[in-house]
Amino acid sequence: MSRFSPYFGEFGGTYVPEILVPALDQLTEAFESALDDPEFHQELGKLLKHYAGRPTPLFEATHLSPNPLVRIFLKREDLVHGGAHKTNQVLAQGLLTQRMGKKEIIAETGAGQHGVATAMVAAMLGLKARIYMGAKDCERQQPNVYRMKLMGAEVIPVHSGSGTLKDAVNEALRDWAANYDSAHYLLGTAAGPHPFPHLVREFQRIIGKEAKAQMLEAIGRLPDAAIACVGGGSNAIGLFADFIEEKDVELVGVEPGGEGLDTGKHGAPIHLARTGILHGMKSYLMQDSDGQVEESHSISAGLDYPAVGPQHAYLAQTGRAQYVAVTDDEAIEAFKTLCRAEGIIPAIESSHALAYALKRAAEATKEEVLLVNLSGRGDKDLNTIMTLEGLQ
Ligand SMILES: Cc1ncc(COP(=O)(O)O)c(C=O)c1O
Repeated sequence: MSRFSPYFGEFGGTYVPEILVPALDQLTEAFESALDDPEFHQELGKLLKHYAGRPTPLFEATHLSPNPLVRIFLKREDLVHGGAHKTNQVLAQGLLTQRMGKKEIIAETGAGQHGVATAMVAAMLGLKARIYMGAKDCERQQPNVYRMKLMGAEVIPVHSGSGTLKDAVNEALRDWAANYDSAHYLLGTAAGPHPFPHLVREFQRIIGKEAKAQMLEAIGRLPDAAIACVGGGSNAIGLFADFIEEKDVELVGVEPGGEGLDTGKHGAPIHLARTGILHGMKSYLMQDSDGQVEESHSISAGLDYPAVGPQHAYLAQTGRAQYVAVTDDEAIEAFKTLCRAEGIIPAIESSHALAYALKRAAEATKEEVLLVNLSGRGDKDLNTIMTLEGLQ
């Protein structure tokens, strides 16, 4: 019996072909026994500190806030080795791969950040990695494709469907179904079938745990709101997890509004609130009236996903967290604002969270403290920005 229910209210579950059930059961067992094993925590703690560079700083962005009433604090996950929060849970799943006696890792990637984190950790732990990436994403994230290859990973472009993250997940799941005896599927976000949403949350929880202690140290109280962008949902659930019981802290997830929610060209399944099944889970999903999955759109590859992790669907449905959307243009504007105000180049994904914080701060009429998860750095996005500026 798993200690975690596969469901978050009506969301979650294990909607997979029967052939994958033994692999998921094996993973659940390895995950839960690792949680109880002090040696596992010691080994993971060492890697998080000495390899990934944790704890990450909490930085008050004093020049960023457009309103003297509002203080904005950035949780600097962009400083984690690899350039994003993704490394946190990849290290844990890398160790789980070894505990299960497997030598190969299968992964999917959107922006390439999860792929880079997987390639890094596989190299460091002596595991073989093959990484599925949508052909469109390979194009917009070329430097990350090269990084993965440099570290010895095989990168497999996926041309089916829209050539983005959803299609990469499909291919990775197909590979896992055929090879789970020797390979672990290292899913990169808090989505997919049980136990992945719990597993990824537990190993990303460190973001919110550190931030909570750092906020108390910095200002002697918790923030009024904790804000994070939402693709599949791992950086957001990692930030939220330790604040869910803190009822005075507002939780705000920021979905990619793309070209605008009313254009249909976005990646905001929570906004649509249509329940469906994709990639082994029941959750909110962009789908048409026949249940066919619709193409998502976002300028940021890491948010370009038509579904969302089931715990976010639950937090939205119960009202514990609110979810808002920010357009491509607003995210790019926030990207530039942070570059100039603080000398920090954020990922376009994280710029969605920043854009919401900036809008909220500009409208505030009373004192407020905002905690924003800066989930990654923007070096990987320079091609996109330069193309937008007509520089290449
Ligand atoms: C920097 C960064 N932030 C956020 C995300 C979105 O993923 P998640 O919602 O799982 O945090 C990605 C995904 O690639 C990313 O690279």
